[in-house]
Amino acid sequence: MVRKIKDRVKVLVLFAIICLIWQHFFFRGVVVTSSNLGRRAPIGIEFFLDPVTSKRDNFGLLFEKFLHDSHKKKGNFLEIGGGSGKFFDHNMATFGHLVENYVIIEPYKLLSPSKEPLPVFAEKVAKWEKNTSSSTNIIVHHEFSTSSELIKSFPDNFFDFIYIDGDHSYKGAKSDLINYYAKVRRGGVLAGHDYCCNRKEFENTIHAPWCGKYIYPDSTSDKKKDGKDKTAFCGIFIGAEEFAKEKNFYWLYTLEDRGDGNSAGSNNPSYFTIKF
Ligand SMILES: C[S@@+](CC[C@H](N)C(=O)[O-])C[C@H]1O[C@@H](n2cnc3c(N)ncnc32)[C@H](O)[C@@H]1O
Repeated sequence: MVRKIKDRVKVLVLFAIICLIWQHFFFRGVVVTSSNLGRRAPIGIEFFLDPVTSKRDNFGLLFEKFLHDSHKKKGNFLEIGGGSGKFFDHNMATFGHLVENYVIIEPYKLLSPSKEPLPVFAEKVAKWEKNTSSSTNIIVHHEFSTSSELIKSFPDNFFDFIYIDGDHSYKGAKSDLINYYAKVRRGGVLAGHDYCCNRKEFENTIHAPWCGKYIYPDSTSDKKKDGKDKTAFCGIFIGAEEFAKEKNFYWLYTLEDRGDGNSAGSNNPSYFTIKF
């Protein structure tokens, strides 16, 4: 009898451990890596409704899902505004094996003629170009996304995913949407960063997500003072809203940890839609 109880306790403990491991990896492990991305059936977009998993760092799952839905093995990704190469590096590490062509538009030299492309950006590009286990073609255009020659050089419906994160003004963000919409294939994803407003703007703007506040309790800087509103790019939000209205669709957006009363989030929200 005692032995039977002991056995049952053992089974229960084992079950509890398995549950904890499962919960840890599938609910708290918010960033999906290349090691587990390819092995599961693609998830649906409901994954992007949970503040814990709703992150641009999980966009690889959307990329995988929409490739799978259209029976494609690999696809083309465009990032407008390469910056330090942080997002590019993350994407290559998590779903680079699904990307045929990774195109980046980053006009460093044109913005400041004396400057070489930001070393960290160039280093990340070189790192992936040299990576012998990667078969992705990495194509960098040091031009403005508004260059009509450049826009013309991309065939319509060429990209499976376009991420807009270049010129953060209302005009810049909206013109990128207008110029690159045709370049996403039907069933592909059009997305962009910084879809939010600051507190004052957000109070006057219907349905705008709030960019949040700085949480830097030890900060001595006035610019990034603890509790102060984060730098916001409400023009992006307004431009994206207008564009969606003109084209008759709605944006979804990532929550970036904005759950449990977290008004700061781990990143600014990214907007996205599936082109039908
Ligand atoms: C916020 S950073 C991009 C960050 C990057 N996407 C990431 O998440 O790691 C914005 C970049 O856009 C670039 N940029 C500004 N105007 C642009 C334009 N018209 N076309 C393309 N890129 C532009 C800037 O040089 C800057 O490096």
